[in-house]
Amino acid sequence: MCGIIGYCGHRPAVPVIIEGLKRLEYRGYDSAGVAFIQDRELVSVKAEGKLANLENKLAAQNVYQATSGVGHTRWATHGLPTEKNAHPHCDAARTIALVHNGIIENYQELKKELAAAGIRCQSETDTEVLAQLVGLYLKEKGSLAEALSKALGRVEGSYAIAVVSRDNPGMLYAARKHSPLVMGVGVGENFLASDIPAFLPYTREVVFLDDGEMARIDAGSWQVMDVATLAPITKDVKHITWDVSSAQKGGYKHFMLKEIFEQPTVIADCLAGRIDRQENRAILPELDDIPAPQRLFIVACGTSYHAGLWGMYLMEQWAGIPTRVEIASELRYREPILGPGDTVLAISQSGETADTLASIHLAKARGAKVIGLCNVVGSSVARESDVVVHTQAGPEISVASTKAMCSQLTLLTLMALVFGQKNGVLPADVAANCLPALERLPAELDTALPAMRRRAKELCRIYSEARSFLYLGRGLCYPLALEGALKLKEISYIHAEGYAAGEMKHGPIALIDPKFPTFALAPLGDLYSKAKSNLLEVQARGGKIIALTNPGADLAVDHPWEIPLAWGPISTFFILPALQLFAYEMADYLGKDVDQPRNLAKSVTVE
Ligand code: F6R
Repeated sequence: MCGIIGYCGHRPAVPVIIEGLKRLEYRGYDSAGVAFIQDRELVSVKAEGKLANLENKLAAQNVYQATSGVGHTRWATHGLPTEKNAHPHCDAARTIALVHNGIIENYQELKKELAAAGIRCQSETDTEVLAQLVGLYLKEKGSLAEALSKALGRVEGSYAIAVVSRDNPGMLYAARKHSPLVMGVGVGENFLASDIPAFLPYTREVVFLDDGEMARIDAGSWQVMDVATLAPITKDVKHITWDVSSAQKGGYKHFMLKEIFEQPTVIADCLAGRIDRQENRAILPELDDIPAPQRLFIVACGTSYHAGLWGMYLMEQWAGIPTRVEIASELRYREPILGPGDTVLAISQSGETADTLASIHLAKARGAKVIGLCNVVGSSVARESDVVVHTQAGPEISVASTKAMCSQLTLLTLMALVFGQKNGVLPADVAANCLPALERLPAELDTALPAMRRRAKELCRIYSEARSFLYLGRGLCYPLALEGALKLKEISYIHAEGYAAGEMKHGPIALIDPKFPTFALAPLGDLYSKAKSNLLEVQARGGKIIALTNPGADLAVDHPWEIPLAWGPISTFFILPALQLFAYEMADYLGKDVDQPRNLAKSVTVE
């Protein structure tokens, strides 16, 4: 997830672009850049790190004359967060510069084609491949619109792009497919951006671009056309009433809520380029050169640990790999039986968690191989692992982790499939059903989320007086019960305990009374009848129950909560946001600081 902006107007473009990028910085902040035309030359200035570094560089160069240009703030997906990989990217002849948000899935293939035509890419990014392709077709077609149309026709994946061209100063082109792009319509100035806040101080008149559309703007006019045919498309200009601060959250009250609602897109991004549809196989090129582990140690903290626990079930059942899951702060001070031939899978959103890093060091010192599963490209976990698989969830701003876990579960599913394929033990029904179910998920989840939020809101009002909750789950729902309890306690400050449902009778059942509610995870499936009998035990002691289940279930509990059922473990992707939404709505109802709960930090870089 990156932020892009384009400006054409009567003001110096660079300050407008930089201000816009500051308002988009939540979309990515590992490097940034701008491009504009000056003295008939394409100028591109880029800097690694925060936007302030780019500002300092621009200040030193005094380059403020241009009145049009593009800018980008990056969240690395392909290639390290270095200056070389920062956007904008240019073609070999420096006729165009392009900024991009999205993932070009077939960039390796296109890169080979470019190499055959004598064009060498300078960076490791998928975006430069597109810039080079546009440059190549521009020579052939002579028109930028036609070159863009042809190049975008070759691209698989997702994109929102904005392009500045040396031979058309004062004019920008943009296009989108599966990545957000809006146009701001001002007086004597027009804007392009990933998100409205980028240009909100200048205009509230917006045109939302749809997939397959291309836009051309200059200071006084704009036009939208079909990216494939270039036929004009009529668009409505909409007036929006947001203020700047709410707009940064995309209209959501909190980043946590925004990130929960981003999960359908996160799943789609995590799957991009990782499914071979013809063969119905999962592909993770990062793992191509390593065999399936003989023994796997999953190591992580907090929410990432819960993701790991969930992943263990799949690694065992689908890939036949003996798997242990370790809390990193415990593993590092044990004498684990770990050595050459073992594989450690370190899971971390931030890639900077001190205990997880210490476990990586321990594993490497003992000769084990380390796979990092991590969201932040260029982070310590990414750099110190032997092999790294990136989750592609985009920046997570809210302290409570939500979309990161969703991305970890998606990647753990793909990893279990890949290792199952490598070991030749993937069960036939999994091979047949899992990938189609995953691919249906983004649309299904997107449809389901609003109703789930409504139900979460109703239920938290009923239970807002509770001082303690017991979360129960079995099988794959056990790690989710732990996660539901963690989310509730960390943002609403209500005590909650996650428990394996079958363990309840060995102790916690003593706590049950009418004031101690149980939040049960009881989806239909193999373990449904077991979950049902555990709930009868709770009811027999006068306990109140919220039960997450599916249409067709016959639970006679106080508050059933029906969510969609998907194939096998893919149902998890509906259970997780329900738990997150319940915690979110409870914390918001109780007036807590949802995005920055007390005593917590987003990245725990100390012991
Ligand atoms: C909970 C939460 C934490 C993190 C944990 C690990 O909402 O955010 O429990 O999951 O601190 O962080 P990472 O994944 O960055 O290693």
